[in-house]
Amino acid sequence: MLSGKHIVVGISGGIAAYKIPQLIRLLTKAGAEVRVCATHNALEFVGEVTLRTLSNAPVYSEVFAPENNRATEHISLHDWADLTIVAPATANIIGKMANGIADDALSTMLLAMNKPIVVAPSMNTNMFLHPAVVRNIDTIGLWDNVTVMGSPEGLLACGDTGAGRMAEPEDICLIADKLLEPQTLRGKRVLLTAGPTKEAIDPVRFISNHSSGKMAYALAHELEKRGAEVTIISGEVASEVRRRANDCTIIDVTSAEQMYAATTERFSQADIAILCAAVADYRPETAADRKIKRSGEELTLRLVENPDIAARLGQLKQAGQLLVGFALETDNAEQNAQDKLKKKNLDAIVLNSLADKGAGFNTDTNKVTILLANGEAMHYPLKDKTEVARDIAEVVTRLSDKLTSLPL
Ligand code: CTP
Repeated sequence: MLSGKHIVVGISGGIAAYKIPQLIRLLTKAGAEVRVCATHNALEFVGEVTLRTLSNAPVYSEVFAPENNRATEHISLHDWADLTIVAPATANIIGKMANGIADDALSTMLLAMNKPIVVAPSMNTNMFLHPAVVRNIDTIGLWDNVTVMGSPEGLLACGDTGAGRMAEPEDICLIADKLLEPQTLRGKRVLLTAGPTKEAIDPVRFISNHSSGKMAYALAHELEKRGAEVTIISGEVASEVRRRANDCTIIDVTSAEQMYAATTERFSQADIAILCAAVADYRPETAADRKIKRSGEELTLRLVENPDIAARLGQLKQAGQLLVGFALETDNAEQNAQDKLKKKNLDAIVLNSLADKGAGFNTDTNKVTILLANGEAMHYPLKDKTEVARDIAEVVTRLSDKLTSLPL
């Protein structure tokens, strides 16, 4: 939701200011317009020209700068802004915010700012743990329009290791994006399956598939941003994929049977279930408890069918619950997806065809068609998986609105 939004980036004088050009790039790449307001100390750490060039606008650092049309220009940023980010937020600027002090362009602008403000603290650990700073952070954290980000432990620029590092620009962007999203799914509980399952052959080998979980986690993030409470029943996925869904509850499973148990157990408490996982249809009848050694002869693995989670939820579904599946097909795509929609009693199915270049497993893009139980079909062009997730989230929101407005 950053596209077309007006973001003020307030920079105070901490060494992490060197990361702010990257933050501005991320925001502008996502389609936001940025204005920078920086303290004098901040401009010792990061060049004014860099900030002006990346934001394509003058940098506000002086209350009485001749290039400001009016001496109150930085204050009127609150009219322009949809959201403000203070990063890095030093102990000093946090103290000024908490105590209503306005003695330079940044602190004055912040005192006048009545839109959402994201604060990303950054300071030496001793300062971060000082009772005065703890109190100031607690104070601003209670204000309705302020979100204070965590300060992860790590190596600090001063050479110490500990709490007080600034949150990464990618994470600051995710929070900003979320705060700007209308809360159309507030109060909805979503259960989502994700990633591949692994079916053990012996303690070191398994049968699995190429699912990366990228689509599922991008979708979880989109739904969570809209206010939904998302629980992901997840097969193994890479940590950078997992990071997309920081605020979701993640329940880790390995096999299809574990995913089945975890999902069916929670379904009655869910308003919406979305089955993105690439569940293995078969598993070895028995998993050897020791490594199978080469014997010089043929080896036959006998496979038995796994339970179908989607079909079971389709049987359990109550009025008011929404069930959405995925289908990955190589041929006869739309017909096969229609058949699955009916057979599993789904309300919608998201079809990706492996025949489409750039769609399917392990890519950052996808091309989907969404089929609804009422026969409606929506075809989308090839897009980044984050944008596809947005399209799917829109349809899910629309369908869940319809369901909740129906008398039970
Ligand atoms: N699904 C599931 N449990 C299974 C198999 C599939 O929940 N054991 C779900 C998938 O998460 C997806 C939908 O059912 O939402 C369709 O999955 P897909 O693998 O395309 O269909 P299958 O029913 O397994 O049919 P086939 O593999 O024969 O195409």
